[in-house]
Amino acid sequence: MQRADINLSDLDFWARPIAEREEAFGLLRADPELAFFDPPAAAIDAGRGYYALTRHADVIEASRQPQLFCSGRGTDMVDMPPWMLDFFGSMINMDDPRHVRMRRIVSRAFTPKMLASMQADVDQIAVGVVDDIAERGECDFVADVAARLPLRIIVDLMGIPRSQEQFIFDRTNVILGFSDVEYVPEQDMGSILTALVGAGNDLATLVRDLADERMRDPGDDLLSALVTAEVDGDHLSAEEMASFFILLVVAGNETTRNAIAHGLHALTEHPDQRARWQADFEALAPTAVEEIVRWATPVIHFRRTVTTDGARIGDHELTEGDKVVLFYNSANRDEARFDEPFGFHVARTPNEHVGFGGPGPHYCLGAHLARREITVAFRELFARLPDIHSVEQPDRLRSGFINGIKHLRAEFTPAAVSR
Ligand code: HEM
Repeated sequence: MQRADINLSDLDFWARPIAEREEAFGLLRADPELAFFDPPAAAIDAGRGYYALTRHADVIEASRQPQLFCSGRGTDMVDMPPWMLDFFGSMINMDDPRHVRMRRIVSRAFTPKMLASMQADVDQIAVGVVDDIAERGECDFVADVAARLPLRIIVDLMGIPRSQEQFIFDRTNVILGFSDVEYVPEQDMGSILTALVGAGNDLATLVRDLADERMRDPGDDLLSALVTAEVDGDHLSAEEMASFFILLVVAGNETTRNAIAHGLHALTEHPDQRARWQADFEALAPTAVEEIVRWATPVIHFRRTVTTDGARIGDHELTEGDKVVLFYNSANRDEARFDEPFGFHVARTPNEHVGFGGPGPHYCLGAHLARREITVAFRELFARLPDIHSVEQPDRLRSGFINGIKHLRAEFTPAAVSR
């Protein structure tokens, strides 16, 4: 493969076999120059192209200097009009002071205490999800387990009726899976935009209605905490609530599900590592979960925009308005940072992966919850269906943004339902 064969903006690149993609990123990491790519084709004016940051050190450097590498001008490869940045990205597309205000308000409703209080519920949800497949001996691991668990947790956490689960699942699939025909059958730019806006509006309407109810009659759920949260006399507006909700359900569903699905497949393909974890689950869970997130890297990239002439990445001087795209997948396979980056090791230490983003103000707000979900999923699976394994190669999402698995057939010895 030659450097000239690589185009990270081309969706077809992301449909190439994993080995070819990894070879391409290996070439980019080894190249002392920063690779520049034209923007992907888009229904809107995509703006200029971008430099690809593929080395771990470069991703860290950009992440930890938000004043030089900002998020407020967009975090997608393509530029978006301001209303779309807020509507689909919420705080992910904000800089201080807007970002810190928003993060302060929502963090109040997202504290470790709040999460600890729902541990028993998370465990119960995992029991229920496994119950639903236990007697069958086989399943579509994504639809039946990996997607169901985080979806149910976020729905319960927010205080949304479970009857809305499928409705939310279908909309989040469109928002992050819009480049795949399974979710948006017509792949022309107009149809994609219509589908995206329609899915976003559906979710916004749902949350506005529920928020109105909670305002009148607050409960002990996250939505009530959000509508009543106050920092220095400040509340979230109805629009801010709606777009934060979209971010939360999308970020909370489409990421953890892929970590869990990639996790089962990696454990199937590395039986020695699986046996090791199963023999000592609790002791190895913290490192195994981090390794699953590194291995899967469910979010492939986010972008930053250079705010000041002379900002640097390594030896490269950039100018105001330049875009840099942080390829977390590549950073997480960087041989300069990880021993055996292509090996899957449940006890890997240290493991400074950037699966939840680099260090900085936008580091994943849901990281603790995601770690807990992945742990609970495998604890319950190993306890009840200890021989569950994938039986085919993953059916992958066509996307350069989400490292998604749409379907993954799995088999196991049937077990009794617990209820
Ligand atoms: C394995 C699962 C997950 C992965 C791989 C992941 C990945 C990421 C990444 C890479 C970012 C950084 C964005 C940036 O730097 O611009 C991020 C931010 C964020 N994530 Fe996650 N995430 C996961 C689970 C979750 C969950 C479960 C939730 C909530 C329920 C969540 C909510 C958020 C939010 C709200 C932000 C924005 C934070 C900010 O801008 O201050 N994530 N996530």
